[in-house]
Amino acid sequence: MGIKIIGSGHCVPATKLSNRHLESIVDTTDEWIFTRTGISSRYLVTTEDTNDLAYGAARCAIESAAIDPTEIGLIIVATFTPEQLTPSTACLVQARLGLNQQPVIAFDMNAACTGFVYALVTAEQFLKSSKIKKALVIGAEVLSKIMDWNDRSTCVLFGDGAGAVVIEWDEVDSPSFYLNCEGDGDVLGTSKLPVNNPLHQTGTSPISFHMNGASVFKFAVTAIKETVTTLLMENNLTLEEIDLIIPHQANKRIIDKVVKDLNASPEQFFLNVSEYGNTSAASIPIALNEAIKKQRIKAGNRVMLVGFGGGLTWGGCIVSI
Ligand code: ACO
Repeated sequence: MGIKIIGSGHCVPATKLSNRHLESIVDTTDEWIFTRTGISSRYLVTTEDTNDLAYGAARCAIESAAIDPTEIGLIIVATFTPEQLTPSTACLVQARLGLNQQPVIAFDMNAACTGFVYALVTAEQFLKSSKIKKALVIGAEVLSKIMDWNDRSTCVLFGDGAGAVVIEWDEVDSPSFYLNCEGDGDVLGTSKLPVNNPLHQTGTSPISFHMNGASVFKFAVTAIKETVTTLLMENNLTLEEIDLIIPHQANKRIIDKVVKDLNASPEQFFLNVSEYGNTSAASIPIALNEAIKKQRIKAGNRVMLVGFGGGLTWGGCIVSI
């Protein structure tokens, strides 16, 4: 890909909810959740909201990039759980960072759990074709807002959080991404926003999330394998030439199945779903930041990011660190 990640950061709510604690809220067990998903805990907002988490992650990413923040000309936030529909989370982050010395483009994108990859690829197009030198790309979600806390088959899987990267154009590598979608609202999605005008009313129930777990499992395995094999083939690379694959963190069993089917080694795939649960668009940048901080990847490494989720959407990209 024609971009380089020069800084990363993440931010999660102050409150961590363990599976054991969840047992007192939902009819579930630590054993059920852990054996089926690999999840042990997740962070849930109390006083924070999407824009607080996005801002926290952005600040860490800018600090680690050690740049003058006014060099940032583009902010994209991948989210489907913003604090409000407008202003966008990206505009709220721009205001809090005080980035107004030069023109800044700021907007949110929704590609559900693939959102961060879609946003990164979009940012790459701006860096390639404009005078913008640096971009801030964030994945931020407060999924706990849209969970049905009476539906134990879904609410135990998700968490809140945000991750961010600062990127710049890197002439060295050739562009390398693969994105795809197949519109389907049944397998995975939220309820519809109600219409409530003077001529027509469809109710006022809050937004809720639904998922067919078994279908999502099959879709996810196929989507990851398709993305990995396509990216390797199009770039004349082998799996061994990728230093680390960072997949969307939905479920450890999904990754175990992919590792087995691709005849790969488990060490090639980074996993931190155990601590954070599934944070949708935030999961890849949170994992990327942890992988960097834990020195699983370092300067000069080639990393593949792979997302899949609602839409249905899926895809990935190869980035340098
Ligand atoms: N605690 C205890 N029991 C539960 C829970 C729970 N939290 N949830 C469901 N059960 C029960 C069910 O009621 C069912 O009981 P029954 O047999 O008496 O009817 C039993 O457990 C088995 O339920 P299944 O749905 O068959 O469980 P399965 O083994 O298929 O695991 C799971 C469910 C974990 C959701 C699995 O389908 C899965 O991993 N799917 C992928 C989903 C995913 O990762 N989605 C991520 C969101 S989308 C995205 O990020 C792309």
